Amino acid sequence: MVPSLLSCDFGNLRGEVERLEAAGAKALHLDVMDGHFVPNLSFGLPLVEAFRKMSRLPLDIHLMISNPGDYIDRYAAAGANGMTIHAEAVADPRPLLGRIRQLGVSAGLAINPATPVAAVGALLGECDMLLVMSVVPGFGGQPFDPTALDKLRWLRARVGTEVLLEVDGGVNEKTIGACAAAGAHLMVVGSGIVKQPDYKAAVETLTALARSHSGGSSS
Ligand code: DX5
Ligand code: ZN
Repeated sequence: MVPSLLSCDFGNLRGEVERLEAAGAKALHLDVMDGHFVPNLSFGLPLVEAFRKMSRLPLDIHLMISNPGDYIDRYAAAGANGMTIHAEAVADPRPLLGRIRQLGVSAGLAINPATPVAAVGALLGECDMLLVMSVVPGFGGQPFDPTALDKLRWLRARVGTEVLLEVDGGVNEKTIGACAAAGAHLMVVGSGIVKQPDYKAAVETLTALARSHSGGSSS
């Protein structure tokens, strides 16, 4: 499971990163928003660079921006380990996914709840990760959209572990088990961790729930 910092205390980012590391986080999910592709602004390159300096954990960068092609090289240089672009943001994601891989970064492709999963079926060989959004992107704390489970099952039937399946939005103690059972390998959790009083207890509970529903292949 991968914590998202979108809803954390931005007045104390170093403290938040330290708490997540101490809680057993295996990576950090960073939500980059441009106020155009999604109706919200979060943060961009300077903060990603700052997170890179603060932590050795892999950085999973979720680009919710309209022109990802203009930024891929810069986010790779800023320290991305994984970089996910949205299928809805570009006419043809192939060259961008290829560029991300060329830079030595895991290439992810995301689909919004309104995008049919079949739209990315032909692109599975081009990406290292497929991100199924289980909320309309833009804000933390929204309810989980269960149609994401059908998409995960569809994808799970078509790929092995060479393409990691990630789910993002509304994942918490009530929904993480269904995500794992539907085939998700990586669950992004924002408010289900950073809005809880005890991050370690939240991470441990969520990890145990994911494992018990997946037979051990989820994180
Ligand atoms: C939403 C972001 C998510 C968000 C998840 O647009 O992509 O990563 O932080 O937050 P929760 O877990 O609170 O739904
Ligand atoms: Zn995200």
